[in-house]
Amino acid sequence: MQVIQAKHAGACYGVQRALDMAMAVVERGGEVATLGPLIHNPKVVADLEARGARVAEAPADIHGGTVIIRSHGVTPEVRAELEERGLDIVDATCPHVARAQAAAAEIAGAGCRVMVVGEAGHPEVEGLTACAQAAGGKVDVVAAPADVPEGLYDPIGVVVQTTQVRDNLDAVVAALEEQGLSPIVKNTICSATSQRQRTAADVADRVDAMVVIGGRNSSNTTRLAEICAERCARTFHVESAGELAPEQFAGCAAVGVTAGASTPEDQIQAVVAFLEEL
Ligand code: F3S
Repeated sequence: MQVIQAKHAGACYGVQRALDMAMAVVERGGEVATLGPLIHNPKVVADLEARGARVAEAPADIHGGTVIIRSHGVTPEVRAELEERGLDIVDATCPHVARAQAAAAEIAGAGCRVMVVGEAGHPEVEGLTACAQAAGGKVDVVAAPADVPEGLYDPIGVVVQTTQVRDNLDAVVAALEEQGLSPIVKNTICSATSQRQRTAADVADRVDAMVVIGGRNSSNTTRLAEICAERCARTFHVESAGELAPEQFAGCAAVGVTAGASTPEDQIQAVVAFLEEL
């Protein structure tokens, strides 16, 4: 049976960087907490906990030692609270997210009302919103063109959650232009998500079964599984190789493998090894 791995699969740059930073911190020892689960991958979070990095839900739950800020970033208020508590801060905010936060602050600072294109309530979107508000901007979070409020006037700025798709950004910008506005657009989309989606679809079109690896609580992995299932009916979303059984691949000549942006390489290789054994 041929095993085909998607060209872009697994931990993106920002997640890998956060993992490497967290591993370096736990190896140093001492009291360590991550502010929220480091990534949407239960196995990694459990492994970090076993090495001494507990998950804290809020700054008030951390009373000393080192705190790791995850790749989504935090709001300026949360950062200030961590500083006030005298914690040793290890900032694993993805540089692409930091760039989006800076863009949100820049357009708000220039006097624009800010449209944040993204998923309301997502920690990254909360960070972008708070950065724009701290710079004096009024902010609207819009998930889709239908969310764009009526009665807007220039100057308007647009900033985007890094994991959004380009078509959605373009549609929101078009909705603003239909109101006669000339928005300043900061395209802060990171290519990791679209690369994973595109290369997973390419593989799913060519195989008899597809395995998508990643946390069930990971929205980017779940989206990858949906994209694969549209092209390959025998798509399995698993968190680890242990969930797979040989019968699932009976009669398959080729099986594809992909993984979400929060899936480390060892979890991918365990699945590839299982499939290659069949
Ligand atoms: Fe960063 Fe893009 Fe990953 S923003 S965390 S490299 S999906």
